[in-house]
Amino acid sequence: MKVNILVGTMTGTAQLCAQEMELALDDGETRVETLLMDQLDSSVFARDGVFLICTSTYGQGDVPDNARALFQDLGTKRPDLSRVRYGVFGLGDRTYAETFNFGGKRFDELLGELGARRIGERVQHDAASGVLPEEMATEWGESWIALAKEAAEAGVS
Ligand SMILES: Cc1cc2nc3c(=O)[nH]c(=O)nc-3n(C[C@H](O)[C@H](O)[C@H](O)COP(=O)(O)O)c2cc1C
Repeated sequence: MKVNILVGTMTGTAQLCAQEMELALDDGETRVETLLMDQLDSSVFARDGVFLICTSTYGQGDVPDNARALFQDLGTKRPDLSRVRYGVFGLGDRTYAETFNFGGKRFDELLGELGARRIGERVQHDAASGVLPEEMATEWGESWIALAKEAAEAGVS
């Protein structure tokens, strides 16, 4: 199983989560590659393996600056992603009640519109909760990878 973690971040928290997930999940049988979204475009989804979107939220519920080009390219080119399976680990802060975790939510909605199928539920870390994001990420990542393997074994990946 190959996992591509795509990271949208402004101040590095999502990147830390991705790095910790890579450490926890990459065991030889599962190979994990972490890519910052900077300079990626929609062609990244032609890679082998499953995708894990790990992104925070900025502005008024926007994706982070380094995720904008990828997000816009997907929205403009609208590729058929029906072969893509993905998960979403979103970061946000409930203080922003109206736009809580919209970065992950927006990616999830767009990928779904393009035919990609999500594995598991979209997760929402809350910076105001006191829960360490990297701990939540690794714990969730372990259960997510189990679901991804089940999906692959069932032949729907
Ligand atoms: C200027 C600013 C705007 C933000 N806007 C939102 C928002 O609209 N919704 C939300 O859920 N979180 C928002 N956040 C919280 C961040 O998404 C959260 O702190 C996250 O953990 C940061 O992760 P990063 O370091 O990977 O960028 C905002 C934070 C800042 C500093």
